Amino acid sequence: MFSTTLTLPRLDDLHVHLRQDEMLQWTADETYRGGAGRVLAMPNLKPPVITPEQALNYKSELLKVNSNLDYLMCLYLHDSLTSEDLHRATKMGVNNLKMYPAGVTTNSQYGVDNIKSFYPLFETMQELDMIFNIHGEVPSDDANNICVLNAEISFLPLLEQVHKDFPRLRMILEHITTKEAVKFVANSNDKIAATITVHHLDLTVDNWAGQNHNFCKPVAKYPVDRNALRDIVKTGSAKFFLGSDSAPHKREMKETACGCAGVYTATYLAAYLADCFERLDCLPLLTDYATKFGADFYRLPYQTQMLNLERTPTVVANEINGVVPFRAGQTLNWKLA
Ligand code: NCD
Ligand code: ZN
Repeated sequence: MFSTTLTLPRLDDLHVHLRQDEMLQWTADETYRGGAGRVLAMPNLKPPVITPEQALNYKSELLKVNSNLDYLMCLYLHDSLTSEDLHRATKMGVNNLKMYPAGVTTNSQYGVDNIKSFYPLFETMQELDMIFNIHGEVPSDDANNICVLNAEISFLPLLEQVHKDFPRLRMILEHITTKEAVKFVANSNDKIAATITVHHLDLTVDNWAGQNHNFCKPVAKYPVDRNALRDIVKTGSAKFFLGSDSAPHKREMKETACGCAGVYTATYLAAYLADCFERLDCLPLLTDYATKFGADFYRLPYQTQMLNLERTPTVVANEINGVVPFRAGQTLNWKLA
C-alpha cells in the first residue's frame, strides 16, 4: 500500500536563505545535501544584494563554497536601484528582483515604503520580462489594526493594483500563509504564482506562539488557512510550487526575548516534503510541486540529476551548526538514500 522508494529530480528551491560569512559554506552544503539542485538565493544579506555586480559577487562566493548547486540570483528592491541596473542585470543573467516591505522581516529595513515610487522600475522589469518576487505583508500598524495575523491579507489589494498596472509582469507571492492569498493566486491569470513552504503546510498559530523555532515571517495562520494551503497543493495547480524559505538563525538568536524570524529546513527538505505529502495523501504530486511547476514559471529546463528517497524512519537532528532545524527530534517517515 505504501511506496517504499521515491525517485524525483533534484529540487528547485525557489526561495532559500544561504546567508554569508561563516554561515555561507555550511548553508550551501546543507542545502545541496537536503536535496536541492537549483535555488533562488535570497538577497537580504548585510548589506543587501542590490546591484547586479553584488549579485554576481555573491554567486561567485557561493560557487566557491559549493559548485554542485545551480544558483539563481535575485536583487533586493531598493531606492538606489535604477532601470539601467535592471538592464545590466538581465544581461548578466540575473532575472529576479525581490521586494521586502520595510520592517516586515529579517534585514528588510532597506526595503520598500511606497510601492508607487518603484513604478518606473516595474515598467522596466515588465519590458525585460524579469520575475518579481514579493514578500507580501504590510508592516504592522496598530492605529490601523494591522498585525502579523492580517498583514498578508492586507497586502493583497496592493498586489492586485500592481498586477492591473503591469499586466505582463510575472510576479510570485512568496511563502503564502492565508486562504485569501490562495484564492487570490488561484483566481489570477498565469502571470501570478505563489510559493508555499513545507513548514507552512504543517504549522498554525499554536505552533509558533511560545515556540520560537517555529516563528517565521509571515507567521503561520489559522488551521483553516493551513488547510487551504494543503487543499491547493492537493489540486496539483501549477501556480503553487516550492520555495522553502529555509532561514537559519543560530539557536541563541532564536531562544531569546526578541527572537529572529525564520525556520530552518534545508538539511531535510526532501525528507520533510515526502513525509508531509504522504500524510496529505498526495505523494504522487510532489514531483510537480518541487521540480516542475517552478521551473515552468521561471521558464527553465527541468533538473536532470535524480534524488532517491527511502521510506525509512529518520530522526531530525537537535542542532545543525548551531541552528535548530524544523521538527528537531521528531521522526520523519522518509530519508534521502
Ligand atoms: C527570513 C530570514 O531570516 O532571512 N525570515 C523569515 O522569517 N522567513 C526572511 C524572510 O524571507 O522573510
Ligand atoms: Zn525568505
